[in-house]
Amino acid sequence: SSQPLVDQFQRRITYLRLSVTDRCDLRCAYCMPERMTFLPRKDVLSLEELHDMALGFIARGITKIRLTGGEPLVRRDMIDLVRALGRKLGDGLEELMLTTNATRLAEFADDLAAAGIRRVNVSLDTLDRAVFQRLSRRDSLPQVLEGLAAAKAAGLKVKLNTVALKGINEEEIPDLVAWAHGQGFDATLIEVMPLGDVEEDRFDHYLPLAAVQDRLARQWTLTPSSHRSGGPARYWDVAETGGRLGLITPLTNNFCDGCNRIRVTATGQLYACLGGNEQVDLRAALRSGDPEAELSRALDTAMRIKPERHHFAIEEPGAAPALTRHMSMTGG
Ligand code: GTP
Ligand code: 5AD
Ligand code: SF4
Repeated sequence: SSQPLVDQFQRRITYLRLSVTDRCDLRCAYCMPERMTFLPRKDVLSLEELHDMALGFIARGITKIRLTGGEPLVRRDMIDLVRALGRKLGDGLEELMLTTNATRLAEFADDLAAAGIRRVNVSLDTLDRAVFQRLSRRDSLPQVLEGLAAAKAAGLKVKLNTVALKGINEEEIPDLVAWAHGQGFDATLIEVMPLGDVEEDRFDHYLPLAAVQDRLARQWTLTPSSHRSGGPARYWDVAETGGRLGLITPLTNNFCDGCNRIRVTATGQLYACLGGNEQVDLRAALRSGDPEAELSRALDTAMRIKPERHHFAIEEPGAAPALTRHMSMTGG
């Protein structure tokens, strides 16, 4: 069918987050352990499968696709997928976006822009090289900064994503946001979420953003912004910097009412909610005798199982993560 995707709670689903790989060249401590087990390559969808799947989604009314990882730019044929999907812009697809750690953005920024990408979200938790190395377990801040400069030069609109971490980047956050706005980037702060086992206890570094917001509101004039992306962020305009500040408080706040999104892993598992385990196997549909019809049926199933809201919380020290899967499986 070509019916639009509407779930049981009358939410129109128009935004797909598509993970193209679970692999990453960094090891951010809140995201994965140093010795992360990655998916076997044979289980990962081929470029053709990713492309066919995306077309199936577009046929059902998906208008925005954000490519995620892991780190999407570590996948070798990634730029070919971007080019192929870029050809659908204006023909069902309204926006194609990327979330990246920027370590390889210097190499790809021009090609991404030429393929039709207008916006990239870049993960950056600190501007201090030693802190970056401690947090991501790799000394890649110089490459990331080159990547950001290249994105800017290529005319890409940049939003920085910063996970707020007590005892790690807490003190630096006002400077980091001011720096981002000075560069012409938007900035979004994120509370750490309990996805997948890592080596540390996330609770130790959990920083509720309410306190950070109070501090920023003492130095700046924050006005609620009308900007909405259908995601978990609430946005504020900062008068003094002219920039936009997003706050993602999944644990203290509720954004699920307006959710417009679904996500698919690199192996073709559709997760109806980031904070839940409800899933549908799209790879089986893609590899069936009638991929188009089976994929569409699978999407109908997804609409029936999408939960009303997520159910994760960081409750207590030492508690097991609410979800066993890592963020790198679904790219958020
Ligand atoms: P746009 O709205 O398209 O700009 O993107 P975004 O800010 O929603 O996504 P981005 O890839 O920049 O991710 C920012 C953070 O939001 C990451 O930590 C994601 O895990 C998180 N996120 C994205 N979608 C969801 C969601 O549906 N629920 C929750 N709880 N978090 C999400
Ligand atoms: N909690 C919150 N954010 C996370 N990210 C990765 N793992 C987590 C987590 N457990 C962030 C990255 C990136 C975005 C896609 O998700 O820093 O900015
Ligand atoms: Fe890689 Fe992003 Fe996870 Fe860091 S948060 S390890 S950059 S996937």
